[in-house]
Amino acid sequence: MKIKLLCFFSLLLPLLLNANVTIGKWRVFFAPKDKLTAEQVCNASRNGILPAGAVEFTLKNNLRNLKDIRGYYHFGKEAALVHTTITAREKCKVRIGTGCDWFMSVFCNGKMVMSNEPDGSTVYTSHTEMDYQLTLDLNAGTNHLSFRLRPGSASWDFAFALAPSPANWPKETDGRRGFFQRLFPDAERTFYIFPYISDITPDSVRLSMEFSDEEAVQLRYRKMGSNKWLLHAPELREGLISRKKLHHFELKNLVPASRYECIIEVLAQKYGAKPVEIQRCVFNTLPDRGMKHSVIITGDTQVRPYICREAVIATCKTAPDAAMFIHLGDVQHSIKNPVRDFFRNIVDAVNVNYAEKIKNNPETPLLPAILLRGNHDFRGKYSEYYTRYFRKAYRAFRIGDVFYIILDTGEMIPECRQKNAVTYYNDFTEYFKQQRKWLEEVIASPECRTAKRRIVLAHATPLANEKHFRKSIEKITGNAFFGENPKCKIDLWIAGHVHTAYRYHPANNTLHGLNVPWLRHLLNPEKQFLKGINFPFYVNDGPGGEITLSSLELKHDPDGMEIICRDIPSGKVLDHVRLEDNKPFIVKKSVFVEHKW
Ligand SMILES: [Fe+2]
Repeated sequence: MKIKLLCFFSLLLPLLLNANVTIGKWRVFFAPKDKLTAEQVCNASRNGILPAGAVEFTLKNNLRNLKDIRGYYHFGKEAALVHTTITAREKCKVRIGTGCDWFMSVFCNGKMVMSNEPDGSTVYTSHTEMDYQLTLDLNAGTNHLSFRLRPGSASWDFAFALAPSPANWPKETDGRRGFFQRLFPDAERTFYIFPYISDITPDSVRLSMEFSDEEAVQLRYRKMGSNKWLLHAPELREGLISRKKLHHFELKNLVPASRYECIIEVLAQKYGAKPVEIQRCVFNTLPDRGMKHSVIITGDTQVRPYICREAVIATCKTAPDAAMFIHLGDVQHSIKNPVRDFFRNIVDAVNVNYAEKIKNNPETPLLPAILLRGNHDFRGKYSEYYTRYFRKAYRAFRIGDVFYIILDTGEMIPECRQKNAVTYYNDFTEYFKQQRKWLEEVIASPECRTAKRRIVLAHATPLANEKHFRKSIEKITGNAFFGENPKCKIDLWIAGHVHTAYRYHPANNTLHGLNVPWLRHLLNPEKQFLKGINFPFYVNDGPGGEITLSSLELKHDPDGMEIICRDIPSGKVLDHVRLEDNKPFIVKKSVFVEHKW
């Protein structure tokens, strides 16, 4: 039997082919809001009859902006009736995922199965198939599914995906399971968030995971090849083993530059029962000496959610040997759906091929994903989830003889501006004091002082034209990096935020970047501040400039480092430069132009 299905992600396609239902054609009819009643839409889900003027359309990556079909839309003034059929071989239940920007009601065979009207998409303000997961009761034969959709102010996105039956879920050891589990959180003992590494040094790793239900979890781990398993026991609270959803395991005293395997186990609640193995993972510790390594960087991924995910996947593909992935902050405009914004689009995308890889080679390691915090990551109802999942937003670590310092440059808008809900609840005064104290300790530490190279990563550029950002940087860093005699000489500052790629070197006081006319205006540096910058810096791109997104591959060798700036997702090299001690950038290939001061 020929089966046509729309897939969640291309990698799940083989599983969907086993399902025993078929999705029919999609049709849409547009009408003014007051001319399309819920009754009409409900009737279409009984008989499949749409008013004259309905047109066929298709979904791409489970998504379609209805505005693209109609050519325009007016927020609050119109509505669409969307219809499709689901043909089932027999009476059955089927799971679907759907979402809409902004108002939706769903009807199946004459019954309303879900509605967020009149409030709109208040819980998950995203518009992906992850937003609402529904179970439909299907009859044998043709079933009608219809939607009443009204647009939001930003788009008229509609998302839909059909889920595979639980029998077709991957086995427990399959790393892709995390994706299914987030779509079907009612599954027993499943990961809500697949294991991830968000902090790492040469001798420590933080491995975190979130379960759908509260669980008591322990971790067994060993250096690959060793026959001695070590145990990280579950957390105890006042003597009681803690059952909880989110688990952070801080593994310490590890051997640098080594491969480790670990087994995640859930403790059975029955006395005497053995712990149940849930998942095996492999990770590498960082080297504690040597210069040769690379990291892959992107940031400002404030694009449509599915584009963001594809961009991160494309970024990682350009640097398969990278020791870690670094995001420079601003994962989205605001954190509305932390699972989507931090994990589905970023952390999971970094490890998207993990399942395939461990199938072919069980020793494939998880790639650490380090997420800086940008100004937009302070915004949104769920912005606090950053610390829940990643704990500290500023940190330092060493990869071999290279020392990395990650700063949190905060919001770009002054805090406590009463009318500005963005930052009303934030107060950075104490936070920046804490960060400065920490930074002073860090730059005085032997790890920093004995390093042969020092890299600062921050969301804000040292040349940022936002006055408030500059003040924040001054408050955090003081005279640590700036001025004639900085306390800590750094070799490079990498930043994002500005949404156009450029680089600056103090040796010849030149600035090169993409050919965007507003770049010079955007920078508009105050001379005072520029004088203090005696280190080169490189800024990554984001949407809104000449290109959509770019990535930076930073490759170290004993004599210097190479920076390769690529267009994402095409992977085309935009700028390839080499940086050696106190010399201007050595350009190997570039489309950048000089921007005169
Ligand atoms: Fe930003």
